Amino acid sequence: MSFYERVAESYDDWSAHVTDDIDFYVDLALRADGPIVELAVGNGRVAIPVAKATGGRVIGTDSSPAMLEQARSRAAEAAADLDLRLSDMRDLELDEACGLIYCPGRSLLHVPTWAERRQIFERVAKSLKHGGMFAWNVLAFDHRVAAEIDGEEALRPAPHVNRLNVPENRIDMVLEDGATTSLWWATKNEWLGLIDVAGLELEDLYGDFSGSALDAASREYVFVARRP
Ligand SMILES: C[S@@+](CC[C@H](N)C(=O)[O-])C[C@H]1O[C@@H](n2cnc3c(N)ncnc32)[C@H](O)[C@@H]1O
Repeated sequence: MSFYERVAESYDDWSAHVTDDIDFYVDLALRADGPIVELAVGNGRVAIPVAKATGGRVIGTDSSPAMLEQARSRAAEAAADLDLRLSDMRDLELDEACGLIYCPGRSLLHVPTWAERRQIFERVAKSLKHGGMFAWNVLAFDHRVAAEIDGEEALRPAPHVNRLNVPENRIDMVLEDGATTSLWWATKNEWLGLIDVAGLELEDLYGDFSGSALDAASREYVFVARRP
């Protein structure tokens, strides 16, 4: 069983404290002109408030059936209009041009190679209206922090060990039964390169969700790009 199939039921509990990104994405959604899509929607943690705030439908894609099941029941409970689709973001295909595509929760770090990320960015660009926005946030990777958590045991969302793999550019979270999810880190210039090759333009880059400028203390890249 894959990592997210294993942790889907406890994801709500795990992520309950992660709230500082929600208003940021809701604000973008309220300004979006056209359909809204969340890539790697998980349990709908962000998509549900976005759908409620806009009063419209949010398309949410994810590669984990168990996470989508969580999103389905949470959306029903909240009476939020989510159109949930089982799909890998590398294969993104949408039949309508969108006003906003967004990817919170650092999910793009689950994509191993630059080529696969380029494929996603190109598909996103193709799926946006002219003037439409692509927003995402990812860890601003710090080797010092990663070295501190290397080998550390953590209990949530399920007991696991963090393993830093420097030559492979990633952190593995390994559950007790060996199920693993990996985060492949990327530099600011790699993200800017992806924006460039996809034909998007950088709209904003923040160091947190309150709109602070990126600086040496920032632990997050919060990107907004636009299709010209
Ligand atoms: C950390 S969770 C984030 C979920 C949600 N966006 C949030 O912010 O709470 C990462 C999600 O990415 C999904 N995921 C990982 N790789 C994916 C891929 N290649 N395509 C689609 N979803 C993927 C996982 O199934 C999981 O639901």
